[in-house]
Amino acid sequence: MDKYVVFGNPIAQSKSPLIHTLFARQTAQAMTYTAELAPVDGFKVAAENFFAANGRGCNITAPFKEDAYQYASQLTERAKLAGAVNTLKKLDDGIILGDNTDGEGLVQDLLQNQVELSGRRILLIGAGGAARGVILPLLAQQPDKLVITNRTLEKAEKLADLFSAYGNIQAVGLSELEQPEFDVIINSTSAGLSGQLPNISEKLINSAVTCYDMVYGSELTAFNQWARDLGAGKTLDGLGMLVGQAAESFMLWRGIRPGAKQVKNELRRLLQ
Ligand code: ATR
Repeated sequence: MDKYVVFGNPIAQSKSPLIHTLFARQTAQAMTYTAELAPVDGFKVAAENFFAANGRGCNITAPFKEDAYQYASQLTERAKLAGAVNTLKKLDDGIILGDNTDGEGLVQDLLQNQVELSGRRILLIGAGGAARGVILPLLAQQPDKLVITNRTLEKAEKLADLFSAYGNIQAVGLSELEQPEFDVIINSTSAGLSGQLPNISEKLINSAVTCYDMVYGSELTAFNQWARDLGAGKTLDGLGMLVGQAAESFMLWRGIRPGAKQVKNELRRLLQ
């Protein structure tokens, strides 16, 4: 049976084994997918052992995405630009390919929820690892523009420079954003994890705007609650991105695209 695993620390919270088990059942693939706790300084050894024991591929979650980037012997372009790897695959010649499916997972979730990106004006809040991982796939949808803003503006400016060759991207300070000029607003900050909100103007929100929070939980997230109270047209959370990135990894490993919607509904039910 083909073996897959997700590495993280902590890992008990990971929903990836459940998601991939559901995908495997849905597409009749003979495979196992388990979770493995690796020591904080021990990703390389854990990955080496896994592949030496005939492992076919793995997912990588915090805090190992940069370790996995270093470990991969070959990288996809999107992983190179993300500076992080969430998926490894052992190729037939033994090469370990590193990919990053997070951004495509976000894009696919938005598209499945009938949120258009092509020709649209997108605001990305935050300039950490989560933001960097989604920029290339967002630009690949050819938005009218992608504006990146952050509490620490220099970090947003660095990302805008890094991706300037790939589309219309610019960095703008939080306090300069005063007009309702965006169709889609994506929160990639970790502010919500401590019950906080990024400091963006209420003027940006109206019924034509979709707000997407990359985090999720059993309750509406703080950012989506804020947006909904201001009359946002649609609010979506990161559960769909989680399932979407898993679907892209599964596709890379197995060559079959699983149906994300059914699995997302199942996870939502389990969260309640
Ligand atoms: P991740 O990998 O989740 O992106 P990260 O690289 O530590 O984590 O980045 C966290 C992001 O959330 C950053 O953009 C950070 O803003 P700064 O660059 O100014 O630190 C943002 N962030 C975290 N807490 C925040 C808060 N309370 N308000 C606004 N932004 C916040």
